[in-house]
Amino acid sequence: MKEINWKTKFEPFKIKMTEPVAVTTAARRLRVLKKACFNPFNIPAENVTIDFLTDSGTGAMSHTQWGALMTGDESYAGARSFYKLQNAVQSITGCKYVLPVHQGRAAERILTGLIAAQKPGQTIVSNAHFDTTRANVEANRMEALDIPVKESYDFAKPAPFKGNIDIAKLKKIIKEKGAADIPLVIMTVTNNTMGGQPVSMANIREAAAVCRAAGIPMFLDCARFAENACFIKQREKEYAKISPLEIAREMFSYAQGCWMSSKKDALVNMGGFLAFKRDGAWAQKAREALILGEGFLNYGGMSGRDMEALAAGLMEGLDENYLAYRLESTRYLGEGLLAAGVPIINPPGGHAVYIDVKKFLPDFKQARFPAQSLVCHMYKTGGIRAVEIGMLMFGRRDAKGNWMPADIELVRLAIPRRVYTKSHLDYVIEVMAHIAKNKKEIKGVKVVWAPQSLAHFSAKLAEV
Ligand code: F0G
Repeated sequence: MKEINWKTKFEPFKIKMTEPVAVTTAARRLRVLKKACFNPFNIPAENVTIDFLTDSGTGAMSHTQWGALMTGDESYAGARSFYKLQNAVQSITGCKYVLPVHQGRAAERILTGLIAAQKPGQTIVSNAHFDTTRANVEANRMEALDIPVKESYDFAKPAPFKGNIDIAKLKKIIKEKGAADIPLVIMTVTNNTMGGQPVSMANIREAAAVCRAAGIPMFLDCARFAENACFIKQREKEYAKISPLEIAREMFSYAQGCWMSSKKDALVNMGGFLAFKRDGAWAQKAREALILGEGFLNYGGMSGRDMEALAAGLMEGLDENYLAYRLESTRYLGEGLLAAGVPIINPPGGHAVYIDVKKFLPDFKQARFPAQSLVCHMYKTGGIRAVEIGMLMFGRRDAKGNWMPADIELVRLAIPRRVYTKSHLDYVIEVMAHIAKNKKEIKGVKVVWAPQSLAHFSAKLAEV
C-alpha cells in the first residue's frame, strides 16, 4: 500500500490529565484588565483563556517525564540524575563539560561575567541576542551587537532562513574591531528576537569558519535547537533524510560550547545548562561561578528530579513526529491569521507567530502604544494573552521622560508545547478575524507609571 504522510494531521499525543481554561465574560475581562492596569503581565492566569505570553516553561510534560521525576536522586554530590543529564547533553551537543543551571539567564550571567573579567571594552556579536542575553552582556559593561541578515527586516516577504547571521558584516566587524576585542560570537537558534526564525546549517558552518579563522569562540544559545533542526530538515535539501538528532549534532559540532534555557525545546517547566567542549579557563571559571551562585557542580540550580525530567525531555524534544506537529501548529496559526487579514512576520517562526502591528494598524497613533493597545484588546475580546514587542518593551524615554516611538511594533503569540489543541488555535484565529474586521474598537493606551529598566513587566497603563 502506498504510504501517505498523515504525520502532521493530528496532535501526536493523547491527553491523560486536564486543567480547565477560563471561560469568561466580556464584563469580567474588562474588570480584570482594568485591575491589571492594562498590562497583561499583571493578570492572574486563572482569568486567561488562551495564554500565549510565552512558550518558556509553559509546556506539558509526557508520562515518561512524569515517571522519570519519581526516580530523581536528590544526593548533593554525584547524583545519578546528574549523570543522566550529563549523558543526554553530551550525546546531543558533543560538549563534555556540563554545568546544570536553574534557567538560561543563569548560564548567561556566568558566561558573560567571566568574559567581562578578561578585559574592558569587548563586543559580543550575534545573529540577535535575546533580551536577557543582551541585558547580561550590558550589565557586564560590554557591547551586544546584533547582525541579522537583511531579509529578517522584511517582515512580509518569506525566506527560509531569516534567522541567519550576516556573514559579510561579521567579517567586516572582526576586521574593524579586531578579533582581540570580540571574545564571543553567539548563534541564537532559533532566532527569537527576529521572529523565532531558523538559522541554516550552511550559515552556522560559515559563521564557524569565519570565527575559527579569527580565533573567536562561537557558542550556540540553543533554547530552541530542536525546532531549528527540524526547520533545517524541512528547508535545506541535503538534510531531508537525516534525523533531527543527527542534524542537531552537526549544528553543535561547529561550536565550542552552548547554553540552553531548557524551558523551551527540552519540554520542562524549569531548568538549563551551560556546556563546554574544552576544559579550558572558561570552564574552570564557570565552575567557580556555578558553585558561588547556583549550587554544587552536580545540580546547579536544579533538584535531582528536575534533572531526570530534563534528560528525558531533551531526547523527546527531538522526536520527529513531535517536531513536525510543533512546526505545523505554528504554521497553521500563522496562515490562519494571514487569511483573516492579520499581517505577520512571514513565514511563521518555530515557537511563535508575530503580528506586524504597524502594518495591521497603519493609522494608529504611534504615541498610543499600538502593539500594547492590541494586546489589551485581544484580552478584552477573547481572553487571549500575548506580549508586546514595541515601544513599551524597548522602554526608551527622552530627557523629559516622554516615551519614544520604536522602529517595530509587534505582538508575539508564543505557543506553549503540547498544551493547546487545534480547536484552541481555531478559536484564536476566529477572535483575531473579528478584531481585524472591527479595528475601530481598539483603544489606545498611555503609561501612568513605569520603572526605569525592564518597564514592560510592571508598567501601569490606562486607556485614552
Ligand atoms: N535565550 C533565548 C533565545 C530565550 O528565548 C530565552 C528566554 C533565554 C535565553 C533566557 O532563558 O528564560 O530560561 O532565563 N526566553 C523566554 C521567552 C523568556 O519568552 O522568549 P530563561
